[in-house]
Amino acid sequence: MSAPTAAPTVDAPFSGEVRGPAEAREIGADYVSAVGKVIASHVRNEYTGAAIFDEPAIGLAPTPRDKWLACRIAMEEYGHHLRFHKLATELELPDALTGAPLSVFEYELTTWVEFVVLKAIVDLAEVVLMDELLETTYLPLRDLAVALLPEERFHVSFGQVRAKNLARSADTRPLVQQAVDDLVPFTLPFFGRSRSSNNEAFRRWGIKSRTNDEARAAFIDRSRQFVVDEAGLDYPDVSSTWDG
Ligand SMILES: [Fe+2]
Ligand SMILES: [Fe+2]
Repeated sequence: MSAPTAAPTVDAPFSGEVRGPAEAREIGADYVSAVGKVIASHVRNEYTGAAIFDEPAIGLAPTPRDKWLACRIAMEEYGHHLRFHKLATELELPDALTGAPLSVFEYELTTWVEFVVLKAIVDLAEVVLMDELLETTYLPLRDLAVALLPEERFHVSFGQVRAKNLARSADTRPLVQQAVDDLVPFTLPFFGRSRSSNNEAFRRWGIKSRTNDEARAAFIDRSRQFVVDEAGLDYPDVSSTWDG
């Protein structure tokens, strides 16, 4: 795989298959930088999510079985961090890129209800983002999405089954609705700003195929379907655009 003769554009994106770090470097610094940013965001988000949500959830889980499953989910999320970190190391990304967590992670988990709604909604956003990577031009990233998606889908179904049960009981229904009202808007910035030069580079290089707003709209559709059609709750009034 060598560098394309004409510079790719969002209308005529790069469509090769890049088999690893050496080929990525042959294509050029712009490609390495773009794929590196996508990998780095997963390195940070998987770690931070595991540390501030999944690990505390073990203590909040109400039964031994739920504690066991919360342990498993925390282990898997730290595992995702390690797998993305390995890709970052192979690409020789600077530590600074994979270090600082997103400020949107300033959220304190205090109840088990919040945790199950978080898995139902925030992990659904992760599934939407990873689904897109199944077509990415950087094959190590495509392979990793294939490997991790079953676990992310399990996290979503774990959360959705429990959130639906809790929404059926009059006692806990308002708590589930409150968590939905908090967590849907919390999730939207994860898709990036509506106007994003990073996203343009991702699309030029075929690392992603959707604009940030298109990915956000896909998440809104899928999460609304769960909240309204499956859990019988109200969906908050949100927009598919976000500018920070
Ligand atoms: Fe994950
Ligand atoms: Fe997850």
